[in-house]
Amino acid sequence: MPEALTTRIDRALTAVKNPRTGTNVLSSGQVCDVATTTDGKVRLTLLLAANDDATIARSVRQALEAVDGVTDVRVDVKDASQAKAAQAATAAPKRAALPMMEQPAAAPRVAAPTPVTYPQLGKVIAVSSGKGGVGKSTVTVNIAVALAKMGKRIGIMDADIYGPNIPRMMGVNAPPPVEDEKIMPLEAHGVKLISLGFLIERDQPAIWRGPIVMKIITQFLRDVNWGQLDYLFVDMPPGTGDAQLSLVQATQVNGAVIVTTPQDVAVGDALRGAKMFERVGVPVMGVVENMSYFESPETGKPLAIFGTGGGKRLADELGVPLLGEIPLYPPVLVGGDSGTPIVVADPTSTAAKKLTEVAAKLIA
Ligand SMILES: Nc1ncnc2c1ncn2[C@@H]1O[C@H](COP(=O)(O)OP(=O)(O)OP(=O)(O)O)[C@@H](O)[C@H]1O
Ligand SMILES: [Mg+2]
Repeated sequence: MPEALTTRIDRALTAVKNPRTGTNVLSSGQVCDVATTTDGKVRLTLLLAANDDATIARSVRQALEAVDGVTDVRVDVKDASQAKAAQAATAAPKRAALPMMEQPAAAPRVAAPTPVTYPQLGKVIAVSSGKGGVGKSTVTVNIAVALAKMGKRIGIMDADIYGPNIPRMMGVNAPPPVEDEKIMPLEAHGVKLISLGFLIERDQPAIWRGPIVMKIITQFLRDVNWGQLDYLFVDMPPGTGDAQLSLVQATQVNGAVIVTTPQDVAVGDALRGAKMFERVGVPVMGVVENMSYFESPETGKPLAIFGTGGGKRLADELGVPLLGEIPLYPPVLVGGDSGTPIVVADPTSTAAKKLTEVAAKLIA
């Protein structure tokens, strides 16, 4: 008999350790209420303490996404202290915790809001991927800066609530000023940007549950003084979680760009991510294959070391164009770490040229 999905899920969760306590998230009870559907959807609650590293949420998600048979992961993050208090409050008179007919339910379901169009944002483009670490943020900042260099009015909204890294890649990090009750976006390399990274302390854990994610995304769209933009790029967290859902519910998203790496496994994840946008009526504009091959900074020679053609296969499967194949080129990483995107740091490199081509194709 094949091993049960739940066994594989448990094993994956046991492999995720809380760096603070050194224990795994399953046996320590930090992960609870794990629910699985027959078609591979997993939903669970993660209890985060104030001094926990919020990126555990991402590690849990990534561990589950890698489990064979898992099609969708939803992690509901809860404040550990509040969850305990709530448990204590409801534990004694158990039945009273159920809402009675005359009373409104304690947590009424929020009806999905109707997407609002914000004409000043221009076209809203989500940059997404199935898997983490494939280069969404790198692609986002470079196409944004490339378009700004072409004279377009560009904004970036960092919607990666679990690991906002746009500020580091763009070399800015300061609390954005507030003027006339509007948040002023910061500006770098000719691009306006907003990120949760500006609003939270670096090591402060982010306790972002679904409704809070929705609120933040709506605020970033509505309460930030973007001025008039031609394009707003939204850097998404990996996968198909709260941020993706919130974005498409909050505003009219004009298109999505899917970033993938050449390996098959990344492509499978990316396909699921792309289908999610299609299901909610957001057209996929194209696929960017990142880290397609290795380009040596010394010799400039290309080396296909990762397998090839994943981006093309994904694009074909979706019936959309392959917008570019970006080499793995170490200076791209250096540029990201130092706050100078490669299209600025080394505009004549192959990587920069290809990223600029992607930008041009996107607006063509
Ligand atoms: N073409 C490239 N060549 C070299 N390094 C790259 C390239 N693309 C991305 N990187 C590096 O790989 C790392 C991951 O990239 P990035 O942060 O853009 O991925 P991501 O998909 O946004 O990740 P996450 O899911 O964590 O948000 C970064 O350190 C980045 O500098
Ligand atoms: Mg990122």
